[in-house]
Amino acid sequence: MYLTREQEEILQGAKGEVAEKCMRVLVRLGEALGAERLLPIEWAHLSGISYKTIGEAGLEFLEDIKEADFSVKTTTNPCGMDLLRWKELGIDESFAIKQLRILNCLERMGASLTLTCTPYHLEMPKFGQHLAWAESSAVCFVNSVIGARTNREGALSALASAITGFTPDCGVHREENRAPDVLVKVGVELNSVTDFGVLGYVVGEIVGDSVPYFVGIRGGIDQLKAIGAGLATGGAVVMFHVQDVTPESKKYDIRGLEKIEVDHRDIQKVYEKWGGEGGDAIFLGCPHLSKEELQRSFKSKKPVFACVARLLACRERGSVRILCDTCPVVAPFRFDKIVVDSVKAAAYLGERAILRRREEILEGKGY
Ligand code: F3S
Repeated sequence: MYLTREQEEILQGAKGEVAEKCMRVLVRLGEALGAERLLPIEWAHLSGISYKTIGEAGLEFLEDIKEADFSVKTTTNPCGMDLLRWKELGIDESFAIKQLRILNCLERMGASLTLTCTPYHLEMPKFGQHLAWAESSAVCFVNSVIGARTNREGALSALASAITGFTPDCGVHREENRAPDVLVKVGVELNSVTDFGVLGYVVGEIVGDSVPYFVGIRGGIDQLKAIGAGLATGGAVVMFHVQDVTPESKKYDIRGLEKIEVDHRDIQKVYEKWGGEGGDAIFLGCPHLSKEELQRSFKSKKPVFACVARLLACRERGSVRILCDTCPVVAPFRFDKIVVDSVKAAAYLGERAILRRREEILEGKGY
């Protein structure tokens, strides 16, 4: 692999032992993926920061490397608790102490503790910007909807990129890998943001890690966010196009692409998979809600938790309780059955989930 002088120096230890090791990880990874060089990035986004998911080993690892500094803007995914109301939500003090130690390490290294999986609701990346992001739904969103460029990084590779400021030049950083390879005809009306997520999930299961090109749908930021989260959950999709909607969709000739069709039966099957009645708690916001979605949620007839970035949170009204910094997947909540409006949340919660359209939830229907 070709390395610049700066990259060689980091590899020789000029920026300390941790940066040297991180550079080694990235070079190895890049070589395995066929990259010929490393690209500078402008923004890293870290996942795997909940004590529930990384445990003692993850905490020890971060405490070992906490003297290193992040060299680029670095934001963070949700952690295992709402930092202000963890006690009232039944989180154990021993968990909270460990979680705070993890966050202290990241803050010491220079991270901005955004604690959200939708950092783009706080600040949009720019078209063409190279990033190293590790939240799969956010990866799909920024590649597709913004035209920024990031592969689906793992927790470790995103951390290594945050420290060194580089990422391997491969995958969707390269123009040739952003082209669509399967055309998706949508033969069903999508009436809910939840339907968009389910559509993504269905298509993701079929296309794996291909780049789908959707025709026949319209949607704004929140619908596109839901499709991306579904695609990254059902499959390992890192980018998609929607004809006449997403910024790079016009570039490509779609004649001759392999075609698939999705109809209402495909969508219905997913709702049936996570069907059921009852539920001990209702959560909206996987991925975290936008400001507009949060406002709409205030019309709920039932008590709901609305997950959102703390920087977007506002005063609670009606039966909506705002939950920041976390989500039901990465927090150690003890609810047996959870009603959700997102197929990603349902897939991660498994048998504990009941999937409902957001509108039905807000109307208080069916549970
Ligand atoms: Fe975000 Fe948690 Fe869903 S991190 S994408 S709300 S599983």
